[in-house]
Amino acid sequence: MLIDGHGRRVSYLRVSVTERCNFRCQYCMPEKPFSWVPKENLLSFEDLFLFIKVGIDEGIDKIRITGGEPLLRADLDKFIKMINDYKSDIDLALTTNGFLLKETAKSLKDAGLKRINISLDSLKAGVAMKIAQRDVLVKVLEGIDKALHVGLGVKINTVPLKGINDDEVLDLLEFAKSKSMTIRYIEYMENRFAKDKLQGLSSQEIKDIISKKYSFKEVGRIASSPAHLYELEDGYRFGIIDPHNHDFCEDCNRIRLTAEGMLIPCLYFDEAMSIKDAVQSGDVQGAANVLKEVLANKPEKNKWTSQSDNETSQRAFYETGG
Ligand code: 5AD
Ligand code: SF4
Repeated sequence: MLIDGHGRRVSYLRVSVTERCNFRCQYCMPEKPFSWVPKENLLSFEDLFLFIKVGIDEGIDKIRITGGEPLLRADLDKFIKMINDYKSDIDLALTTNGFLLKETAKSLKDAGLKRINISLDSLKAGVAMKIAQRDVLVKVLEGIDKALHVGLGVKINTVPLKGINDDEVLDLLEFAKSKSMTIRYIEYMENRFAKDKLQGLSSQEIKDIISKKYSFKEVGRIASSPAHLYELEDGYRFGIIDPHNHDFCEDCNRIRLTAEGMLIPCLYFDEAMSIKDAVQSGDVQGAANVLKEVLANKPEKNKWTSQSDNETSQRAFYETGG
């Protein structure tokens, strides 16, 4: 079992396989200037897998593949299969923008992927294009349908932004509900890569919009998840992730690995250690030592609070997979 320096059990590993993306979501990436990590600096799937095996042997039981956009990395299904073949009862999930899902959902499911989170910020083509700065909606909707069709568990992630998609909070809820998918609204997290002057809706503002049409009650927060869950009268549940509130640090169970092999104890801290040398030389014990050291130094609380008091990490969310 993995226990960090503050007594928290760590069982959830998020693995970013690339920081590249085919979208330029206003809240995440600048259009330019831009320089990507050179491809040769990325760890191979074999190297990432060596670390993942160490993590699983030590007690990791949930793995989420993220990016950037993870489906841009060739042979992702083979990587999923490596993990699934090693331990098939891992809760194995993927976060994607959905654009390439129509072509890949079946092979991902066949490889052992169980669940998928798809970003969907608008049901209007023009608004989706404004946010992603690419014409994305038709492909994303096709991707969602394909993922459902092949039997993947699907959740929708939505970032409501003032004056951009804040009039679609209810439409997106009803869309997700009509397809029996959970929707989770995410408060916009201010960061230096986002477009200036973006303003997100607060959790309270999101709830106020929904309450104009539906009655709902809070049903709590799933342990170690940053999402607060709410239930409509007919039993449908939606979530709101409000990172401006720190209440999830207390039972934080996650660590993150970047595509370059940096092991990161907290999204909002610059501190990290590289597993690269250990995994590239096949040094299992060395990889385990890095894991234990990162856990011992996992911060108790994130430093990130609000726009006015922003001591956040300089690392981009698209590098760490949010
Ligand atoms: N604020 C809130 N959510 C964000 N995401 C990416 N950047 C931000 C941000 N600045 C979300 C996307 C996607 C997931 C990967 O992270 O909506 O669903
Ligand atoms: Fe790409 Fe996701 Fe960032 Fe959008 S939020 S630019 S889809 S990594």
